[in-house]
Amino acid sequence: MNTDLFEGVIDVRPAQESMAEGAVLLRGFARSVEADLIAALRDTVEQAPFRHMLTPGGHQMSVAMTNCGSLGWVTDRSGYRYDRADPESGRPWPAMPASFRKLAEQAADRAGFRGFSPDACLINRYQPGARMSLHQDKDEDDFGAPIVSVSLGLPAIFLFGGLKRSDKSRRFRLEHGDTAVWGGPVRLAFHGVAPLADGEHALIGRKRINLTFRKAR
Ligand code: SIN
Ligand code: FE2
Repeated sequence: MNTDLFEGVIDVRPAQESMAEGAVLLRGFARSVEADLIAALRDTVEQAPFRHMLTPGGHQMSVAMTNCGSLGWVTDRSGYRYDRADPESGRPWPAMPASFRKLAEQAADRAGFRGFSPDACLINRYQPGARMSLHQDKDEDDFGAPIVSVSLGLPAIFLFGGLKRSDKSRRFRLEHGDTAVWGGPVRLAFHGVAPLADGEHALIGRKRINLTFRKAR
């Protein structure tokens, strides 16, 4: 089937979907600003290229990462942390583009988290086969602020679980523009991404990009 024929015609999915109490999926939320996001992304990645970081255990991550904003999330043999500088260049991370910030603030607002002001944006690049195992986002100082997570490019299966690793997780298909927001009672929920299926996205190519906005400090 040529799915291109149907792209952008009608989105039959509900505009909002609850993943759990305090966790919402805003379907297609980023699509109206996709051109601005892609231009800003290109500019950011030129200044701070994607790289495969090492986990504290010495494994190379299948997802390639970079950051923008005043703080960037990094991992290496010494652990997980936020850094003001890109360890590859020693320079500050690129500033958070205005289009990124505005989108994140509007998404948080729409999800009911008023006044979100992220200082960190982790940019994840998934090529076919790349995955993110179940984890909690807990390297931030302030769990009062939500997490805003924007998907661009190829679709992925997002796993959203509970507060314990052993809790059963639910699967959600995230498509280009979909934006997940979680906070409050589920701020520390385990979540992850199943191995990315191969494909080609008209705007992004053979990959998925995820922007994760957080207030780290
Ligand atoms: C993450 O949890 O850091 C990434 C989530 C995603 O790629 O959707
Ligand atoms: Fe995460």
